[in-house]
Amino acid sequence: MPKPIVFIDSGIGGLPYCKDFMGKNPQEEICFIADRQNFPYGPRSKDEVTNILISLIEKILITFEPKIIVLACNTATVSALVPLRKHFPGIPFVGTVPAIKPAAAASKTGKIGLLGTERTIEDPYNQEIINNIGTGCEIIAIAAPDLVEFVEHRLEKADGAEKEKIVKKYIDLFRAKNADTLVLGCTHFLHLIDEFRREASFIPTLMIFESMDGITKRIEYLLNENNLRTGEENAKPSHKLIVTGNEKPDSYWIFHAQMPGFRLSLLCDI
Ligand code: DGL
Repeated sequence: MPKPIVFIDSGIGGLPYCKDFMGKNPQEEICFIADRQNFPYGPRSKDEVTNILISLIEKILITFEPKIIVLACNTATVSALVPLRKHFPGIPFVGTVPAIKPAAAASKTGKIGLLGTERTIEDPYNQEIINNIGTGCEIIAIAAPDLVEFVEHRLEKADGAEKEKIVKKYIDLFRAKNADTLVLGCTHFLHLIDEFRREASFIPTLMIFESMDGITKRIEYLLNENNLRTGEENAKPSHKLIVTGNEKPDSYWIFHAQMPGFRLSLLCDI
């Protein structure tokens, strides 16, 4: 039996990443875990996020026997990737981190905008990257918990004007601080990538950075390196979307489960 690749986020944030990977690797079986029971991760401490993920992954390993686990969440990655790799040495992990490095390489003003959760922007990871590459760039970090909530709870119903308004609010904040690069450091924001690109296009100097393509390539690399690819002959993927907690499969999840090949499974206790 081919084993699945498990993507984890606190909610729908990781879905664009998952879709990108699935589109390029249709033979691989996917299990997407939206940990809504613990949403949002952003206001939690590093230890809290780590403990949540350790207990979630213990269940995931027993129930799904994944061949790779993708933390499709910046907050989870900056908080817990290192301890998770230590705790589960037998399983390859892929993490999602803010694309600070390419942004620093492209920046002319030396001011890098970073939009993420409270936890992600306060993590030393971002400054360490800047220190390591030694460009002396300044990170202008803004936490956007309202944007995370918006994507998680309103996206399905919001019209174009509402999406534009909330995205513009943040673009204006970065523009006022002279940032010429904006790193989308929360996977939830990828649901609004078109809106971010459109608003940024009115400011010729502002470039948007995200890490979706890099994550897909990293998973592909691990599949190849570790000989974990599902052969075409075995490929009959039956993807699963799992939501933790006690929610009913309402229109929200049906909307998001409309990804090709997904079967909506709601597990309150994996
Ligand atoms: N999607 C998550 C990220 O990339 C965070 C959302 C949350 O606060 O739970 O950081």
